[in-house]
Amino acid sequence: MAQRRGLAIRVDFNNALSMKVGNHGIAPKVVNKWQKRIDEIHAELQWEFNRGGLAFRWLPYQKPTVTKVRDVAKKLRGKVDNFVVLGIGGSALGNIALQSALKPRFYNELPKSERDSNPRIYIEDNIDPECFGALLDHIDIKKTAFNVISKSGETAETMAQFLVVRQMLKDALNEKFIKNVVITTDPESGYLREIIAEDGYKNVLEIPPGVGGRFSVLSPVGLLSAEMAGIDISRLLAGAQAMDKRCKKSNVWDNPAYLSALVHYLADTQNGKTISVMWPYSDALARLADWYVQLWAESLGKFTDPENKKGAVGQTPLKAVGATDQHSMLQLFMEGPNDKIFTFIAAGRYRHRVMIPKAFHSLLGAGYLGGKTLNDLIQAERRGVTLALTEAQRPSITVTLPVINEHTVGQLLLLLQVQTAVAGQLYGINAFDQPGVQAGKDLTYAQMGRRDKASLKAEVARKLHSDRQYIL
Ligand code: PA5
Repeated sequence: MAQRRGLAIRVDFNNALSMKVGNHGIAPKVVNKWQKRIDEIHAELQWEFNRGGLAFRWLPYQKPTVTKVRDVAKKLRGKVDNFVVLGIGGSALGNIALQSALKPRFYNELPKSERDSNPRIYIEDNIDPECFGALLDHIDIKKTAFNVISKSGETAETMAQFLVVRQMLKDALNEKFIKNVVITTDPESGYLREIIAEDGYKNVLEIPPGVGGRFSVLSPVGLLSAEMAGIDISRLLAGAQAMDKRCKKSNVWDNPAYLSALVHYLADTQNGKTISVMWPYSDALARLADWYVQLWAESLGKFTDPENKKGAVGQTPLKAVGATDQHSMLQLFMEGPNDKIFTFIAAGRYRHRVMIPKAFHSLLGAGYLGGKTLNDLIQAERRGVTLALTEAQRPSITVTLPVINEHTVGQLLLLLQVQTAVAGQLYGINAFDQPGVQAGKDLTYAQMGRRDKASLKAEVARKLHSDRQYIL
């Protein structure tokens, strides 16, 4: 139990409150006034959860899923050198976040023995032909497993990638090619289900109904590639469970997700902080910030009145990485518009310690560093920037992971998902749909000749080719 407590991530709200940043922060008495609304939201979410809804909150407790994922992984382990995820958006960003947070930086370059005989992991979340073509040139297709992930079973990017590799696998392995494919999709609907039946794939994992892409990292979507890389998925889920318990408390001052959702919501709607900057001081967590960007953007950027396309809300998420962005965006953050709320992600302890040797003792600009560590330096930079922003009346929250491991990353993922769901309730929108994404998808389908979009095809062609002026 003591160890568990030691692993708990801390969320420090001081620098987002009015005592530190004046009118740009939130006064505790204002938070107290919102407790009533938070109580209602708490009851709504609890009701939804009790009737089996709010599906992402069930994921940390799915033991049978872990068994199923491990069974599939067992079949592939030792047989393949590469494991490639084909997916996009919520079907890829969580995988990338887990790999970069929890595996060594040069994991794919390690000799197999140092990878515990696990395969190299590639997550292909784009269809850039140069990049995808380069991957296909790089890997031995016969020694590669492909995990096709699509909840809808029809996303054009993923389907196209899949069709390319399916043909290559067929050419290389004949009828045995199905062994190199794992399909992760909806248990019932979508074109991938028809393809599973027609090709006869045996390695099939299900995304529970109600779990949308950006809330699916703790489902088979994120778990299989993690397991293939040797990430302890049980510990990841245990971390998520620990945070889930903390997020079950109704008092906003006891619940980090509720308080963070409320502080972000009030910062946006009352204090003009229309931008939420996620700022890890860790390269390993930089890709988790990308995952957060999608989660916050796609969940909250909505109309409160979708029927009439009115009442547009949503805070724009932005990623920064410390210390790198101190030399890029910090000037804007310090002196540009005071329209942001920052979330620093701190690592209490880094997994490497790098000493700075003593040298040039009498040189002012170099000598002081000797005998310290890069760890000291990056922590000092984070603390310094936090303080400087606070003094410039720019609000921030600091989330500290005592160390970056499966348990703490599991906590962080769950925290941010509950925060997003609660923020959705505060804004009065549905955090779990994405109607705005569909329009772009339909226009792509029409141009690429999908039968059901034939009527749109001519209209799209006309509109795309009508702009002859103002092209320089
Ligand atoms: O979060 C979401 O719902 C989206 O980002 C989807 O994950 C993305 O569009 C890919 O969809 P699918 O998994 O259906 O292929």
